[in-house]
Amino acid sequence: MIHDKVDEIEIEETAVSRPVDAAYQEEDRQENILRPKYLTDFQGQQSIKDNLSVFIKAARGRGDALDHTFIVGPPGLGKTTLASIIANEMHSEIRMTSAPALDKPKDLAGILTNVSENSVFFIDEIHRLKPALEEMLYIAMEDFEIDWVIGQGPAARTMRVPLPRFTLIGATTKAGSVSSPLASRFGINIHIDFYNPEELSTIIARSARILDTKITDKAVMTLAGCSRGTPRIANRLLRRLRDFASVLGDGTITDSIVREGLGRLGIDGNGLEKMDRNILRTIIEFYGGGPVGADTLSISVGEAVESLEDYYEPYLIQQGYLKRTQRGRCVTDKAYELLNVRKDGNADQGLLF
Ligand SMILES: Nc1ncnc2c1ncn2[C@@H]1O[C@H](COP(=O)(O)OP(=O)(O)OP(=O)(O)O)[C@@H](O)[C@H]1O
Ligand SMILES: [Mg+2]
Repeated sequence: MIHDKVDEIEIEETAVSRPVDAAYQEEDRQENILRPKYLTDFQGQQSIKDNLSVFIKAARGRGDALDHTFIVGPPGLGKTTLASIIANEMHSEIRMTSAPALDKPKDLAGILTNVSENSVFFIDEIHRLKPALEEMLYIAMEDFEIDWVIGQGPAARTMRVPLPRFTLIGATTKAGSVSSPLASRFGINIHIDFYNPEELSTIIARSARILDTKITDKAVMTLAGCSRGTPRIANRLLRRLRDFASVLGDGTITDSIVREGLGRLGIDGNGLEKMDRNILRTIIEFYGGGPVGADTLSISVGEAVESLEDYYEPYLIQQGYLKRTQRGRCVTDKAYELLNVRKDGNADQGLLF
């Protein structure tokens, strides 16, 4: 029940912030339909689920709030999903916000003084929290109190305001950018890594069932291998392939529909997109294979540093095409093989399906 409410709130917020873009709204609505609500629906990541279910059972047994939880991982792997699952499993309310939306101490104080006992307070992109707010959060997390300054100048005095016991869930794609005093105040640390193709297969099969779309086992496997280890991408590609299947085929997503569709979307047999190949090719052609700094590379390929660092690089590194060194990014021999270039030659188009 609580989760349904959360879904409604999320959709409302989207509608307010992007009033004209119906396509975006539809994508968000579809993502919410596919979002697991309980731990049993959350596919893969077995050890995370096993540990979390122990911590949740123990906290519920004590009638206590779950310890503060820190969730780290690349975009689309299920951080927000896991936060709402925790609230559902704790049978508690969840309030969701994102650090850039918290501007002044009073924004944070307003939420903290209104959370209910044992509820969950989720802060997304917590690495972007302002220092003054971070300090307020330290005391709130540790002592369940905040210091509130009343009045100004010599007449100003500080009041300690008690807070209900709550669970802070902080999520970030950049663990390294979170200050250590903040990171050390979380009792539970969850690091979500890319999903393997078997785990992605179960996610795709589940989503296809929910979307009432037929897909063959072989097509599930092929799609799983091309989804960058990321559930959000698997689900997005599934929806696009459903379109291809209904227009180009008889509605069933077959292996050949997957290959045809992904080829048309510029995704190769390794799940790499045009921009991935562009990044590797740029490092090879303009920077002799590296090293090159993130800022320079971002200008060369025309992509924001944030999406380069958060979205493209983690998968290229995990797949062994790219290395991050102290002096910058370097491609590996595997990147030369992918693009069919000798170390002294010219880059070719990467092979599509
Ligand atoms: N383990 C999983 N099982 C099934 N579906 C999942 C799983 N993890 C994520 N998903 C799906 O992927 C979508 C994206 O997940 P989510 O929004 O939680 O990612 P995120 O880590 O918060 O990403 P971002 O960093 O961009 O905020 C969800 O809507 C859900 O449908
Ligand atoms: Mg999220």
